[in-house]
Amino acid sequence: MSDEGTTGSSASWRAALAPGEGHDFSRTPGWWGLRDLGGEEDDVPRFRAALLRALPPLPDGSTVLDVGAGTGTLAAELVRFYPRLHHTLLDANDAALRRAEEKMRAAEPDAAVSLMPASVDPLDLAPLPGGPYRLVVSSIALHDVAPPAAAAEAPGRERHAAAHVSLLRRIYGALEPGGHLIYGDAVRPRFRVMEHLASLSAAGFDEVDCAYARGRLAVCGGRQPTGPVAATLWRR
Ligand SMILES: C[S@@+](CC[C@H](N)C(=O)[O-])C[C@H]1O[C@@H](n2cnc3c(N)ncnc32)[C@H](O)[C@@H]1O
Repeated sequence: MSDEGTTGSSASWRAALAPGEGHDFSRTPGWWGLRDLGGEEDDVPRFRAALLRALPPLPDGSTVLDVGAGTGTLAAELVRFYPRLHHTLLDANDAALRRAEEKMRAAEPDAAVSLMPASVDPLDLAPLPGGPYRLVVSSIALHDVAPPAAAAEAPGRERHAAAHVSLLRRIYGALEPGGHLIYGDAVRPRFRVMEHLASLSAAGFDEVDCAYARGRLAVCGGRQPTGPVAATLWRR
């Protein structure tokens, strides 16, 4: 197999998902609806491990953006496995970011870390700054950046869905061709796994799938298409 097939930026994350994780059911709402029946406890360490395991291979020097990095629990785990990435941590909370950097340096003293203290407006049209990135990750943060509405409020739900898609488009625009967004977040009664997957497709991603859905936590992702398709989608 060529190197491009395993580590190239056009390889899909879905090839790396373990049997029983990724699948081709993404366009089957009923199947996802059944996953949302509940009955399982939230398990944050298991969820975070699933998010990390879902990442595509990352060659040394790859640029990674963590949106809503907070105190860096995810980033500090990632740097243990990939000590030679260029990490950019984006969060509205400056103090949290400094704590995140400490945790990353405790795990890997030579880690390349840039802090980006800024509040993200999901409705802004510009790509998130500092790109292009090979990978964007986010752990339990996108629902804070584009907060869901109360379940009973239909117009609010539409506003939230639009804001979430807009945020995903901002991420899409910050990726290099073939780059991935893999994120974990809370699902809501009116914003379930299927809505997350539909939002990724609406934002232009391909290879959209869900790698984990247990309790109220899910890991979803997609890839920016390579070549002319990417340019076409982003211009829309
Ligand atoms: C639950 S914490 C994230 C935890 C973190 N990802 C981890 O692995 O430890 C959510 C984060 O989102 C950040 N946040 C919320 N709204 C934001 C916004 N509009 N722009 C940037 N960061 C935001 C908060 O400051 C907070 O640190």
